[in-house]
Amino acid sequence: MKGYGPATFGKLNADDYDALHDPGTTDEAVALLADLAKGGSVLELAIGTGRVALPLAARGLAVQGLDASPDMVAKLREKPGGADIPVVIGDMANMTVDGKFDLIFLIFNTLFNLTSQEAQVRCFKNAAAHLTDDGIFVVEMFVPDVTQFHNHQNVRTARLSETGVTLEASLHDPVTQRIDFQYIRMTDKGTKIVPLPMRYAWPQEIDLMAQLAGLDLKNRWGGWQRERFNADSKMHVSVYGHRSTP
Ligand SMILES: C[S@@+](CC[C@H](N)C(=O)[O-])C[C@H]1O[C@@H](n2cnc3c(N)ncnc32)[C@H](O)[C@@H]1O
Repeated sequence: MKGYGPATFGKLNADDYDALHDPGTTDEAVALLADLAKGGSVLELAIGTGRVALPLAARGLAVQGLDASPDMVAKLREKPGGADIPVVIGDMANMTVDGKFDLIFLIFNTLFNLTSQEAQVRCFKNAAAHLTDDGIFVVEMFVPDVTQFHNHQNVRTARLSETGVTLEASLHDPVTQRIDFQYIRMTDKGTKIVPLPMRYAWPQEIDLMAQLAGLDLKNRWGGWQRERFNADSKMHVSVYGHRSTP
């Protein structure tokens, strides 16, 4: 998608992000991440409007963030406690945060917002370089489901209410593992078109990215409540740490 850069997601979505992007798992995610952090320092890549970072900070953890979008971070700043979280504006594929962290996390499928394998690998390398010796990198991703595409495309009703409908139209390129989405939001007030390019990766490919960064898979769950990961899992929460740690 021409002209779609790291800051574009926020430009298009910051105003209604909190209202339209609730995965319904925030409490479970916060509980597991707080447990994994063990009181240590925390960095969220793609912190957004602070959906998870703010409740983690409210639990007393030292949380920092990075995000490419000044618009998303402006929303974070408006919330109680949002002004106290140090945030670097930057691209997670070229991370420029100082220091090392006991827990770095990148959740809600956001690794896939980097639209090339090369950028995703770089993101893993950057995360690994910012981990303490026994630090961990936690990612949450969907498990790709290419059965939804017919002739490499799909249209589905993503949302529907008395006042509107959101259609999700997508084109799939199985060679590059890219999906270009258009969300067409129609209400009685008009129509808004919101593009979203993504590049998906299978769990095993993500493990290889970790290996290239000197990290090994320490744990993989099928959900934030440590559900077993199996062939029916729609998503995974994966924990990586340096190869030398037990
Ligand atoms: C789906 S939101 C996730 C926000 C937050 N982590 C959450 O779980 O609610 C995606 C976020 O990734 C950010 N983002 C997209 N591409 C990025 C990049 N290359 N580097 C840093 N942040 C990026 C967007 O600005 C947005 O805040």
